[in-house]
Amino acid sequence: MLRIAMVGAGTMGQVHSNSYINIKGGKLIAICDIQEEKAKKLADIHCAAYYVNFDEMLKNEDIDVVDICLPTYMHKEFVLKSIENNKNVFCEKPIALNVGDAEEMVESAREKGVKFSVGHVVRFFPAYEAAIRTIESGKIGTPKLIRTTRTGSYPSWGWRDWYGNYDLSGGPLLDLIIHDFDWIRHNFGDVERVYAKSLGNRKHGQDHCLVTLRLKNGAIVHSEGSWAYPSGSMFGTTFEIVGTDGQIEYDSRESSPIKKHIKDKEGSKIVMESPLPADEEPYTKEIQEFIDSIIEGRKPKISGEDAIKALKISLAAIESSKTGEAVVIGGGK
Ligand SMILES: NC(=O)c1ccc[n+]([C@@H]2O[C@H](COP(=O)([O-])OP(=O)(O)OC[C@H]3O[C@@H](n4cnc5c(N)ncnc54)[C@H](O)[C@@H]3O)[C@@H](O)[C@H]2O)c1
Repeated sequence: MLRIAMVGAGTMGQVHSNSYINIKGGKLIAICDIQEEKAKKLADIHCAAYYVNFDEMLKNEDIDVVDICLPTYMHKEFVLKSIENNKNVFCEKPIALNVGDAEEMVESAREKGVKFSVGHVVRFFPAYEAAIRTIESGKIGTPKLIRTTRTGSYPSWGWRDWYGNYDLSGGPLLDLIIHDFDWIRHNFGDVERVYAKSLGNRKHGQDHCLVTLRLKNGAIVHSEGSWAYPSGSMFGTTFEIVGTDGQIEYDSRESSPIKKHIKDKEGSKIVMESPLPADEEPYTKEIQEFIDSIIEGRKPKISGEDAIKALKISLAAIESSKTGEAVVIGGGK
């Protein structure tokens, strides 16, 4: 049984904690958050130890895997520290804020011979998996046009509002649409050229971005991402894939989740619940895949190199949105 320690018991820490209840071959044995009550709350569910200091947790516990659910600007420091201590590392997306940091993290894992993976979870969402199976069956011919949207209200839950500082979060072009960029690049091919428009961080929590990608195989992608919806709006994703012989469409608002409208002392909010059985739940599947890769001694399906490629697309989009020019990945016009 692999012994797993998690750092960061905020929004994604809670999601991962729920997943660990159903993980096979691994057990969550320790949780760290500088907010003690958050660490303790999740630790109690798992009968795990809790810490407010990561170094203490590394020193005191016998750990095989570190799961990092910290704000993006902290990923590098905690990933490198874990790897230096010979731990396998699963890190939330995006891998880092710049390519240099990301490469250092991937190289360090390679040198130490530990497994490293990043939470590009969209690959594991049932509708996204089903679309790829349909394409692979040849039913819609060759994909030529892909549209994706990922829209909702500003993530105001962040610890010390770190999402609002784009130097720390990268804004929606890095934090949000990178989900679609990874799914598109992994399944439809490498990106050649990126053009993006973004409202930017001029009005807090009102950013909205539109990105056009041209893939090396000639397919065109339109990706939209938004943090501009009013607080309490329903988060939603869509895709449309147009092939030479047919098309596939999906809208998350019309299908999978269960919606609950709740009024409490913080006001009215919509809470989404996944009705999926544990073996279909995407966050559980992505973590199980990583645990299996360690047990089976193989490379994780989402590699560090994949995470760097997704990061490069987001960074090109940010550059394009600032300069007004299209950016060719790898340089050139
Ligand atoms: N895969 C997804 O669907 C998805 C969704 C949302 C966020 N994310 C990513 O997950 C990561 C975490 O985002 P979040 O929304 O959970 O953030 P959050 O702000 O909700 O939680 C961060 C937690 O880290 C804790 N923390 C801060 N400094 C710490 C330290 N030094 N030691 C220990 N704990 C510390 C905070 O107390 C807080 O509880 C980000 O990289 C984000 O981009 C992924």
